Amino acid sequence: MKGFAGKVAVVTGAGSGIGQALAVELARSGAKVAISDVDTEGLAQTEEQVKAIGAPVKADRLDVTEREAFLAYADEVAEHFGKVNQIYNNAGIAFTGDIEISQFKDIERVMDVDFWGVVNGTKAFLPHVIASGDGHVINISSVFGLFSVPGQAAYNSAKFAVRGFTEALRQEMILARHPVAVTTVHPGGIKTAIARNATAAEGLDSDQLAKLFDKRLARTSPQQAARVILDAVRKKKARVLVGNDAKVMDLMVRVAGPYYQQLFGPVMGRLMPKV
Ligand SMILES: NC(=O)c1ccc[n+]([C@@H]2O[C@H](COP(=O)([O-])OP(=O)(O)OC[C@H]3O[C@@H](n4cnc5c(N)ncnc54)[C@H](O)[C@@H]3O)[C@@H](O)[C@H]2O)c1
Repeated sequence: MKGFAGKVAVVTGAGSGIGQALAVELARSGAKVAISDVDTEGLAQTEEQVKAIGAPVKADRLDVTEREAFLAYADEVAEHFGKVNQIYNNAGIAFTGDIEISQFKDIERVMDVDFWGVVNGTKAFLPHVIASGDGHVINISSVFGLFSVPGQAAYNSAKFAVRGFTEALRQEMILARHPVAVTTVHPGGIKTAIARNATAAEGLDSDQLAKLFDKRLARTSPQQAARVILDAVRKKKARVLVGNDAKVMDLMVRVAGPYYQQLFGPVMGRLMPKV
């Protein structure tokens, strides 16, 4: 898979899962990559894989919630490679818990990483991707940015917000005639560590939730996901659904309108462990 020769691509949350697979696929496709994560061990593994391909790589510890550090990082990457073409705002966390039993801090934490992390990354890199003359902002939402389910209010809120923010950005770039494509990514269940890294409201068993995700919900490999995402980036698509599960659920929601809640709620309710 080629098509990114000479491009400089930035991937956050690149120490695991979709971010790691994106970094590796981008390197294989000819890109130079700037990778970051809070998990420096995972990041070092990604760096090794990218180096083995022979692609130029810059690896840094970066917490996407730290705005000042993100702004400084964007300038550093631009200086290091001479330009930045693509930013993949991928870093994310999950949390499970009904609103009634979730703490404010649980909801704020998910918004901080999954929404504000995307805002920080977009704002920090936007001047650079515009200046590149051939830019692209790729923000990772979720199928949970297309419909809500019980127990995922925090994650749903963050991922709906990412979608709203990114869809506005795409239109703004077109109106301003900036040379920047914008893509929102909605993955279905991808076989990554997301559920194992996730937290849950008090009384819920995180291990049980992770097993449920790994066994019943995760369908697509991160490598397949990365290939689908990069194909959409090449085609400058506005929206990409990753996995057949995502496509089926998106169709159901569009056909059912608000009545999807009567279909999905009971199914999720049966799947979710009780407190
Ligand atoms: N796995 C799925 O089924 C799925 C579905 C839809 C959307 N997504 C989204 O895809 C993205 C990647 O998730 P994944 O499935 O690869 O999960 P993952 O847990 O395997 O990888 C996420 C990475 O983000 C990093 N990270 C977490 N908080 C961070 C922070 N504050 N700053 C920097 N890095 C941070 C983690 O250390 C980890 O390496 C996330 O935005 C997630 O919400 C995943």
